[in-house]
Amino acid sequence: MINDNRPEPFIADTLQRPLRDLRISVTDRCNLRCSYCMPREIFGKDFVFLPRAELLSFEEIVRLAGVFLQLGVHKIRLTGGEPLLRHGVEDLIAALAGLRSSENQPIEIALTTNGLLLSRKAQALKDAGLARLTVSLDGLSEETFRRLSDSQASVATVLEGIAAAQRVGLTPIKVNMVVKRGVNEHEIIPLVRHFRHTGIILRFIEFMDVGTSNGWRMDDVVTASEILETIGQHYPLQAVDANYPGEVAKRWSFTDGGGEIGVIASVTQAFCHECSRIRLATDGKLYTCLFAAQGVDLRDPLRHNASDEALSRLIVDTWGRRSDRYSQLRHAATEAPRRKIEMSYIGG
Ligand code: GTP
Ligand code: 5AD
Ligand code: SF4
Ligand code: SF4
Repeated sequence: MINDNRPEPFIADTLQRPLRDLRISVTDRCNLRCSYCMPREIFGKDFVFLPRAELLSFEEIVRLAGVFLQLGVHKIRLTGGEPLLRHGVEDLIAALAGLRSSENQPIEIALTTNGLLLSRKAQALKDAGLARLTVSLDGLSEETFRRLSDSQASVATVLEGIAAAQRVGLTPIKVNMVVKRGVNEHEIIPLVRHFRHTGIILRFIEFMDVGTSNGWRMDDVVTASEILETIGQHYPLQAVDANYPGEVAKRWSFTDGGGEIGVIASVTQAFCHECSRIRLATDGKLYTCLFAAQGVDLRDPLRHNASDEALSRLIVDTWGRRSDRYSQLRHAATEAPRRKIEMSYIGG
């Protein structure tokens, strides 16, 4: 164990990065088919999703979360696929909310959703102990939304979900927009206009080369600086300090008091040097990078009576070996192309 002058003990990887943030994917399924994440040519009706027996049960997830918390994790984010598709996800949240950090403090539980089931579920999520929500929304016009999500779903449904979440106090709500050139950059200003003065924090994400199925090209990336320039021409912005070390979004506020936005420049301004995130996939594999090709299986030891100490050692060893910094190396092209995991399986 080493210490970085913060009160909690933590484990560090080979680049001295602490482990602080656990993301748990609770399903690999989704009710949308966003072209940058689950293109229908690949995730069509013949695609085989994980069978039920392969999924970690809620009991297994809670047990593992407890082990991670003892290693310094203080924030848990539930993701998917679409996490609200997992039956009884609110029961999982309630069980996680009962856990405590290594310093016996309550932990923060957040969730990333596409919002389609949110108006129905917001109250139950709040009652279960969810702290706050991030909702993905890539455009305000029904046409762009249908095209990007390759579905008949409606923006209105997502907006109703966001309103319900706001009503029950799942705040501050963040809305994530992935910007892809030639597809939805014309939606930047309408979304900004819509969410200004609402307390909702709109964040723009550079289109990333996660997985191997989304046909990524650098030309398709609308860069953070282009996004900021576009917004700044309509609504002047000023930089705001990060909320915490390693925050992925750079924060900006409107100079007229209209609120705050964020820009996640994972391609042009990589933030690997501060990356303290680990990801537990739906089937119990542990990944130390969003762009990993291989994970470490925790399900098998879990199902063969491994003790908490043994699970903890496995996690400490995995983190201790970690040297990932894919986004910083992306442009160096030092590696041959390889098969990476998909974002719908590991979560955002
Ligand atoms: P909070 O600060 O707790 O609100 O969460 P966050 O900023 O980590 O937000 P969120 O989990 O919604 O992440 C936003 C987006 O940033 C994700 O959907 C990804 O596209 C991207 N992202 C998050 N973590 C990583 C990461 O470790 N590496 C890369 N390359 N991108 C990431
Ligand atoms: N590039 C950037 N962000 C992505 N997401 C999914 N795929 C990509 C990608 N290729 C984001 C979604 C959502 C979260 C789950 O991950 O927009 O906000
Ligand atoms: Fe589903 Fe989110 Fe992927 Fe879109 S980005 S297909 S909503 S998991
Ligand atoms: Fe972390 Fe990997 Fe993303 Fe870099 S590319 S910030 S190491 S998850």
